[in-house]
Amino acid sequence: MSDRVLIFDTTLRDGEQSPGASMNQEEKLRLAHKLAQLGVDIIEVGFPAASPGDFEAVSLIAQQVKGPIICGLARTGREDIQRCWEAIQQAERPRIHVFIATSDIHLEHKLRMTREQVLAEIKSGVGLAKSLCADVEFSTEDGTRTDPEFLAAAVRAALAAGATTINIPDTVGYALPQEFAQRLKDLQQQVPELAGAVLSVHCHDDLGLAVANSLAGVTAGARQVEVCINGIGERAGNASLEEVVMMLATRQAALGLTTGINRKELYPTSRLVSMITGITVQPNKAIVGANAFAHEAGIHVAGVLRQPLTYEIMTPEEVGLSQNSLVLGKHSGRAALSARLKEMGYQLKEADFERLFKAFKVLADKKKEIFNEDLEALIADEILRIPLRWRLDYLNIVSGTVTVPTATVRIYDCEELKQEFGSGVGPIDAVYNTIKKITGTNAELLRFTISAITGGLDAQGEVTVRLGENGLIALGKGSDPDILVAAAKAYLNGLNRLEYLKLHSPTLAQGERSL
Ligand code: KIV
Ligand code: ZN
Repeated sequence: MSDRVLIFDTTLRDGEQSPGASMNQEEKLRLAHKLAQLGVDIIEVGFPAASPGDFEAVSLIAQQVKGPIICGLARTGREDIQRCWEAIQQAERPRIHVFIATSDIHLEHKLRMTREQVLAEIKSGVGLAKSLCADVEFSTEDGTRTDPEFLAAAVRAALAAGATTINIPDTVGYALPQEFAQRLKDLQQQVPELAGAVLSVHCHDDLGLAVANSLAGVTAGARQVEVCINGIGERAGNASLEEVVMMLATRQAALGLTTGINRKELYPTSRLVSMITGITVQPNKAIVGANAFAHEAGIHVAGVLRQPLTYEIMTPEEVGLSQNSLVLGKHSGRAALSARLKEMGYQLKEADFERLFKAFKVLADKKKEIFNEDLEALIADEILRIPLRWRLDYLNIVSGTVTVPTATVRIYDCEELKQEFGSGVGPIDAVYNTIKKITGTNAELLRFTISAITGGLDAQGEVTVRLGENGLIALGKGSDPDILVAAAKAYLNGLNRLEYLKLHSPTLAQGERSL
């Protein structure tokens, strides 16, 4: 058995199912390029039958992203599979991923099918996929709660119909590591022909066991692990790519397994996902959290300074966390900015770089020291957050202890400039009321958080908002040294994202999409 574990990234599909995480086409394309640079083996780019937006994003990525296998998800029905093939067929190396639920609870309440019907679906669905594409993956949704005999029958049917990868998902995050490993070992014994295919695992984190279960999977013979950057995904998320990869790398001597991941890209990719989706990484998150390599206790600090291995089992540099403490400032030129961006893992197009450089100079006039975190915020504001419709042009606020807070806001609505004046109980309320007047939005502000991007009194503020409208949820982010401007940018970013969702909202009901 090979010691190479294939990394199947599903940030763009399962990860995008995190509430509020939906990404627009350009963001998906940018992330797919980054995942290729990270060295993942397979990118699951979407579910083409879910919506025209998903279809377009998948086809675009299939045409433009080279290197990894490009995979689309489909249910067993003819239309889903044909649509999936249409979207991915131009990829250098396409894969169709067919799935159907196999547990009795799903059969009875969701599919309303008998076991025989499910086997027939597997035969026809996988068979059709195989007639279109040589590389076919089959997943037994809710595999860990499926009767073992029926699981084996489903896997046999998929292999007979031509599946080349068999994935056993722990869809609801219910499995225990030792139990999951045993189930996989039993399955391989019951279905010896599985040896001719790649066995894969896909673990959700409802009990916080997704990475442990993925480890159990590979120790039991799985050679593909399905993961998401930052562990995002449906409900509690999926197994985190960076944790699985660093676990395999750091304990290579014990496990004897390797991946093809370029580990220095882990941190930059994590930051990109967080900036694009608006989902912040918890500070104590393994590998990529802000505190993952921070040492607080004096005795730890002393030890690390003398010999990093006293308290560090891996180095921050290994995962691409730049330790450069030199800050940039208003005297830094293009060369310094470009070198720093490269060090941080960003390769910008010339036009993007020029836009960023201009914004960098404006910020450097307001703020003496520009840290990496400031640059990331600038990249997010200037390059990643493409305004679909509304863009802030001008903001003026009057507020204080003895005055009613008022705001004058001017916004570009596509190319048209619109201005309004409004008031509120506080300055942010005044700004948001005025933006509401201009945009005519009915979105509800569900959450508002603000934090400082770096230390220091001149730190930029970063605002995150969560907006909801008719069941659609969007996150918005904005940063600026002036927190009221940051608040306005975040609100507009959230409204732009909602607008995108309205245009591209899934044609499938959530129950059909949620896996
Ligand atoms: O969690 C799940 O079962 C899935 C499958 C489609 C692999 O996401
Ligand atoms: Zn899943």
